[in-house]
Amino acid sequence: MKSEHNQRSIKSYSFKAFFATLLVVSSLFASAQDDKPQWEEGKSLFKSNCAACHNPKADGTGPALAGVTARWEASGEFKGKSGTQWLRVWIKNWNNAVASGNKYAVEMANSRPAAMNVFVTLKDEDVDKILLYVENADKYNKVAPVAAAATDAVATEDKGPGASLYIFVSFLVLLVIILIVVTNKLDTIVAKSKGEVLTVKTPFYKTTNFKAAVLLAAIVYGGYKTVDVVTHFGRQQGYSPAQPIRFSHALHSGTHKIDCQYCHQTANKGKNSNIPSLNTCMNCHKQVSKGPKYGTEEIAKIYAAVGWDAYNKTYEDGKAKPVEWVRIHNLPDHVAFNHATHVNAGKVKCQTCHGPVETMETVYQYSPLSMGWCINCHRNTEVQFASNNYYSVYAKIHEDLKNKKIDKVTVATVGGTECQRCHY
Ligand code: HEC
Ligand code: HEC
Ligand code: HEC
Ligand code: HEC
Ligand code: HEC
Ligand code: HEC
Repeated sequence: MKSEHNQRSIKSYSFKAFFATLLVVSSLFASAQDDKPQWEEGKSLFKSNCAACHNPKADGTGPALAGVTARWEASGEFKGKSGTQWLRVWIKNWNNAVASGNKYAVEMANSRPAAMNVFVTLKDEDVDKILLYVENADKYNKVAPVAAAATDAVATEDKGPGASLYIFVSFLVLLVIILIVVTNKLDTIVAKSKGEVLTVKTPFYKTTNFKAAVLLAAIVYGGYKTVDVVTHFGRQQGYSPAQPIRFSHALHSGTHKIDCQYCHQTANKGKNSNIPSLNTCMNCHKQVSKGPKYGTEEIAKIYAAVGWDAYNKTYEDGKAKPVEWVRIHNLPDHVAFNHATHVNAGKVKCQTCHGPVETMETVYQYSPLSMGWCINCHRNTEVQFASNNYYSVYAKIHEDLKNKKIDKVTVATVGGTECQRCHY
C-alpha cells in the first residue's frame, strides 16, 4: 500500500518537475531573446555608421565603446540632462554636446586628432540600439557558429528566428527524452523496492506512439527547414561588402547633401540605376584631394584609376584602370524590376526601398528583395490614379471608383500582382 503510494508520488513529482523545468527554460529563453531584434539592428547600424572608426572592445580611430554608458553616467548630470542623455546628444551630433559646455564632451573632443562624424538622421531609439550592441557585443554572437552550421546554404548570417528556434526545439526534445528515461528508471527502482518481479516492458522508444511522434517532428522540422532555406537562398539582406574605394554615402549624401540622382542619373530613366563613372567623381575631386577621415589615401585611388596627375593637374595617357565596385543588390534573372516605373510613375522614394542610405558609411542591402516584399507593397500602395493619364486605359476602374464600388486603387488593382508583370 505504502509503496504504491510512493510510486504514484514519484511519477507525479517527475511530471511536475518536467513541466516546471519546461516553464522555467522557456521563459528564460524568451526573456533572453527579448532584445535580440534590437541588438541585431544595433549591430547593423553600428556596422554601417560607426565600425569604420570604432570597435566595441578595442581602440581605433575612436575609443573602444564597451563601458561608454558608465563613463558618461559617471560624468554626472549637467544642465538637467543625465550622462546617458548627453551621450545620445554626442552620438547624434557631438558638436552640440561640445557647444553646451559639457566638460566630459569637451575633453573627449580634444582627446584625439581625428573628429567624429555627425549622425543627424539617427533617432534616440537607434542610438539606444547601437549602445545595446556595443555594450553587449558578444551577447548573441556566441550562438552564431551553430547557426551558421545549421544553415550553411545562406550567404550571410541567418538573422531569422530559424537557428535559435532550432536549438530551442532540439533542447526541448532532449529534455523530454531524458525525463522519460529518468521516469522509467524510477519506475524500475520503485518496483524493485516493492520486491515485484518485473515483467518485460516494451522500452518507450519502441512504442508506436514514440515512433509516430519522432516521424511527425522530423516532417515538421524538415518542411520548415526546406521552406526556410529555399526562401532565403541567394537573398542577402544586410549584405555590406567592403568596396575598393572607401566611398561614403554618409559623407556625400548626408553631410554634403549631394542629390542621389547627381550620381545615379539613370534611376528615373531606365530599368537599372547606374553606378556613377569616375568622371562624375572627378567633377569635384579635381579640386577636393583630401578627405576628413582618410586624408589623401582614398581619393588618390580615384586619381590612380582615371590616370590623373594631381600635381600637374592633367590626365596621363594609358594610366587609367577601372574600379570594380562590388555589386550589392542583385535580383535573380527571372525577375523584371524597373527603377523608372517606381521612381517616376510610382513616386517611391529611394529610401523606401534602400533605407537611410544618406547615413551609411558603406551601403548595405536594407530590404529583403523577396517576392513577398514586392507584392506586399503593391497591395498596400495606392497609385495616383485620378490625375494620371497613364491610367486612362483603365476605364472600368475609373467607373468603379466613381460609383464607389472601390474606394482606392492600389498597384495590385492595376495588375501589380500578376505573375507576368514581374517574371519574364
Ligand atoms: C570618422 C570616425 C568616427 C566615426 C564614423 C564614429 N566615431 Fe565616434 N568617435 C570618433 C573619435 C575620433 C572619437 C574621440 C573624440 C574626438 O576626438 O572627437 C569618438 C568618440 C566617440 C564616443 C565617446 C567615447 C567615450 O569614451 O566617451 C562615442 C560614444 C562615440 N564616438 C560613438 C560613436 C557611434 C555610436 C558612432 C556611429 C553612430 C560613431 N561614434 C562613429 C570617431 C568616429
Ligand atoms: C557622389 C556620388 C553618389 C551619390 C550622391 C549617391 N551615391 Fe549611391 N553609390 C555611389 C557609388 C560610387 C556606389 C558604389 C559603391 C558603393 O556601394 O558604395 C553607390 C552605390 C549605391 C547603392 C548600392 C548599389 C549596389 O551595388 O547594389 C545604392 C542602393 C545607392 N548607391 C543608393 C543611393 C541613394 C539612395 C543615394 C541618395 C541618398 C545615393 N546613392 C547617393 C555614388 C553615389
Ligand atoms: C559633388 C561633389 C562630389 C562628388 C561628385 C564626389 N565627391 Fe567625394 N567628396 C566630396 C567632398 C566635399 C568631400 C569631403 C571633403 C572634406 O570634407 O574635406 C569628399 C570626400 C571624399 C573622400 C574622402 C573620404 C574621407 O573621409 O577621407 C572619398 C574617398 C571620396 N570623396 C570619394 C568619391 C568618389 C569615389 C566619388 C565618385 C563616385 C566622389 N567622391 C564624388 C565631394 C564630392
Ligand atoms: C521600389 C523599390 C526601389 C526604389 C524606389 C529604388 N530602388 Fe534602387 N533597387 C531596387 C531593387 C529591387 C534593386 C535590385 C535591382 C536588380 O538587381 O535588378 C535596386 C538596385 C539599385 C542599384 C544597383 C544597380 C541596379 O540597378 O541594379 C542602385 C545604384 C540603386 N538601386 C539606386 C537607387 C536610387 C538612387 C533610387 C532613388 C532615385 C532607387 N534606387 C530607388 C529597388 C528600388
Ligand atoms: C515601396 C513599394 C514598392 C515596392 C517594394 C515594389 N514596388 Fe513595384 N510598384 C510600386 C508602385 C507604387 C508601382 C506603380 C507605379 C505606377 O504608378 O505605375 C509599382 C509598379 C510596378 C510594376 C509595373 C506594374 C504595372 O502596372 O504593370 C512592376 C512590374 C513592379 N512594380 C515590379 C516590382 C518588383 C519586381 C518589385 C520587387 C523587386 C517591386 N515592384 C517592389 C511600388 C513598389
Ligand atoms: C511584384 C513582383 C512579382 C510578382 C507579381 C510575382 N513575382 Fe514571383 N518573384 C518575384 C521576385 C522579386 C522573386 C525573387 C525572390 C528571391 O530572390 O527570393 C520571385 C521569385 C519567384 C519564384 C522563384 C522562387 C523563389 O522564391 O525564388 C517563383 C517560382 C515565382 N516567383 C513565381 C511567381 C508566380 C507563379 C507569380 C504569380 C502568382 C509571381 N511569381 C508573381 C517577384 C514577383
